[in-house]
Amino acid sequence: MANKGLNIVIFYGSYRRDRNGIRAVKFVQNQLEARGHTVTFVDAKEVDLPILDRMYKEYPKGEAPENLQKLADLYADTDAYVLVAGEYNHTIQPGLSNLVDHFLEEYGFRPSAVVAYSVGGFGGARVAVHLRGYLAELGMPAIPSALHVSKITQSLGEDGEDTSPYLTKAASKFLDELEWYGRALKAERAKGVPY
Ligand SMILES: Cc1cc2nc3c(=O)[nH]c(=O)nc-3n(C[C@H](O)[C@H](O)[C@H](O)COP(=O)(O)O)c2cc1C
Repeated sequence: MANKGLNIVIFYGSYRRDRNGIRAVKFVQNQLEARGHTVTFVDAKEVDLPILDRMYKEYPKGEAPENLQKLADLYADTDAYVLVAGEYNHTIQPGLSNLVDHFLEEYGFRPSAVVAYSVGGFGGARVAVHLRGYLAELGMPAIPSALHVSKITQSLGEDGEDTSPYLTKAASKFLDELEWYGRALKAERAKGVPY
């Protein structure tokens, strides 16, 4: 699809030293950039927010820590969020939810999309189900499709190169859909939001 120039944030929440999900981050970032989008990777491990104490909005204006303020400024200009989510005990990685939970209104009236992965064969199927309710509560409902990366260490190389028979094709439909929702909600946000 042609360049629609969306600003897209990718979240990833693994703190493990041997983390594998970074392959999926690189894959989806490459795909989005090839479509002409501006992509910012927000790596929970790099940003390293503390376990939630105060949300961004709980600080008096101008007094939030610099890393939170930088994220708030980034989110203000974001059109869509992509969550690259591994599955820990059938649910969401704590590093991901800690990163995301520091904000709320910043996500509103924007679409999200789930890229779920696992080392095993189920491609993060269970965390993707959990994320749908979570993302709806945050005001960034997930698009209908999810991209599932099973056997991630076999399906993607360390630089995100597709070594599977299916991922690039699946990503194409998935990202077409995300672009549609991203453009549609961007146009509506420009007219105003209900609250
Ligand atoms: C605490 C923990 C729980 C896990 N639970 C699951 C699980 O429920 N389902 C699954 O498919 N894989 C599970 N795994 C394996 C992960 O899919 C695998 O470790 C993956 O590489 C984790 O993502 P990361 O490397 O980006 O941290 C678990 C791994 C850890 C460390």
